[in-house]
Amino acid sequence: MKIDILTLFPEMFENVFSSSIIKRAINQKKVKIKIHNFRDYSIDLHHKVDDTPYGGGAGMVLTCQPIFDCVESLKTKDSKVILLTPDGIPYKQEIAYNLSKEKHLIFICGHYEGFDERIRSLCDLQLSIGDYILTGGEFASMVITDSIVRLLPGVIEEESHKNDSFNNNLLDYPTYTKPRNFRGMEVPEVLLSGDHKKIEEYRRLESIKKTQSRRPDLLEK
Ligand SMILES: C[S@@+](CC[C@H](N)C(=O)[O-])C[C@H]1O[C@@H](n2cnc3c(N)ncnc32)[C@H](O)[C@@H]1O
Repeated sequence: MKIDILTLFPEMFENVFSSSIIKRAINQKKVKIKIHNFRDYSIDLHHKVDDTPYGGGAGMVLTCQPIFDCVESLKTKDSKVILLTPDGIPYKQEIAYNLSKEKHLIFICGHYEGFDERIRSLCDLQLSIGDYILTGGEFASMVITDSIVRLLPGVIEEESHKNDSFNNNLLDYPTYTKPRNFRGMEVPEVLLSGDHKKIEEYRRLESIKKTQSRRPDLLEK
């Protein structure tokens, strides 16, 4: 998979994509991630990328030209262009699975007061990572990239994400590791029994109980 991210702040990505599982996935050539400063595409003499909003109002708005030119220079028939925006579709694990099957993703990170409305016409998908306002789309693109890269074949064991929360609309079951007793808190006996069928039943039940108490909305689906 190839991922291109359009931003005015490329330095924000440096540590994030050079650590942990994403770094490994890049080194193993499972994914190629490139950060583009769309200011470089501005034809303005001073490389301006924003302007005041028509009709007045606070803040600066990202202009069309640099973003259109940057996207058009990267886009192929295999590309999916994604705009990060608080009024987009709420991002979910199911969308992460679908996007992990794509060949090429292009993310556009807004900033300041937002972007010229006509930029939406470039996009195949508009995504929000939650009902709150970030200063820019950078963190949103990192969150989405991270959740997609871990699903790419061979990046982590399939077994690890098969039981993750939100698969089959359930939260993950509780997990424990050594020691058996920590400050009086015991590991449930069934997990020490070696009886795989019983362990599987226990985990499924705990998963349902947890979902019922914390996210009943998932079970309704
Ligand atoms: C300060 S926000 C602009 C908010 C805009 N005025 C509004 O109310 O919808 C700047 C940029 O950050 C990004 N952003 C902010 N919150 C986001 C969210 N919850 N999900 C995805 N992107 C977000 C978008 O790219 C947005 O254009």
